[in-house]
Amino acid sequence: MNHFLDIHKTSPEDLRHIIDQAAAMKAARAGRPKGTPDDEQPLKGRMVALIFEKPSTRTRVSFDVGVRQMGGETMVLSGKDMQLGHGETIADTARVMSRYVDLIMIRTFDETVLTEMAEYASVPVINGLTDRTHPCQIMADIQTFEEHRGPIKGKKVVWTGDGNNVCASFIHAAGQFGFDFTFTGPKQLDPEDEFVGLARRAGSTITIERDPVKAVEGADLVVADTWVSMHDSQSSKERRHNMLRPYQVNEALMAHAKPDALFMHCLPAHREEEVTSAVMDGPQSVIFDEAENRLHAQKAVMRWCLGV
Ligand code: CP
Ligand code: NVA
Repeated sequence: MNHFLDIHKTSPEDLRHIIDQAAAMKAARAGRPKGTPDDEQPLKGRMVALIFEKPSTRTRVSFDVGVRQMGGETMVLSGKDMQLGHGETIADTARVMSRYVDLIMIRTFDETVLTEMAEYASVPVINGLTDRTHPCQIMADIQTFEEHRGPIKGKKVVWTGDGNNVCASFIHAAGQFGFDFTFTGPKQLDPEDEFVGLARRAGSTITIERDPVKAVEGADLVVADTWVSMHDSQSSKERRHNMLRPYQVNEALMAHAKPDALFMHCLPAHREEEVTSAVMDGPQSVIFDEAENRLHAQKAVMRWCLGV
């Protein structure tokens, strides 16, 4: 049984297998209506619980559709409608859920909810985002980069803005997939030292560069994310915007990256804040391929978890 909790907790070989399988499964159903089943039905007879303690469009819909395409059934649960947060322990919830379902995907706030769920569940648990990481997103991002540009190994990825949960999983991926990673943003919003150290020890070059123009020089991929994440207080919004404004991804900044550099954003985006519409809708942007690949990458993650 494999949990998919974080990119640095999954071996490079398994990560590579997942990406390759995602690409193969995507190719196998190219052009089919979304509601038609895959030829292979590896989740036939399986029940998957999708638990959300935070809002979601992509994660919710892509997991749900992915399970159905592979022949399984889903139930989408909101954390606040469950006994979670009403006094029942995560450990007991995990044990109970394991009697009903074959796989659990959870999006939550505190990472310990995820890790405790995995510790006590007797079925695989998938991280659908915590305050600290978002590994499923980065699997889709790696698949998307490689689809457009070939192997990501040795490439330069530049993260702009807040060193948040999505940034953290990108740093984990730098260590596991062997690409170089530059963070450009204000010091107050640097990524966690622990994660930077992990990637450096795995042999990746992790650079912190305050000047966004210098940071994007030679970039193969420029990435942005919201300036205010779901776990950030709304009262911090103005302060964060003031700090992050110099890091907006616009056409002038993209002009300093390699001419064939791609632009990615996990979405939802705040147009004209962290990124301009000209970049989002421009020729270097692959944001909707990225969103689509959540479906394919997570289907491969679920198969790996269940060993099917
Ligand atoms: N990128 C992402 O996880 O989107 P949702 O919050 O809509 O699931
Ligand atoms: N950093 C964002 C990602 C949303 C998919 C958040 O946590 O809100």
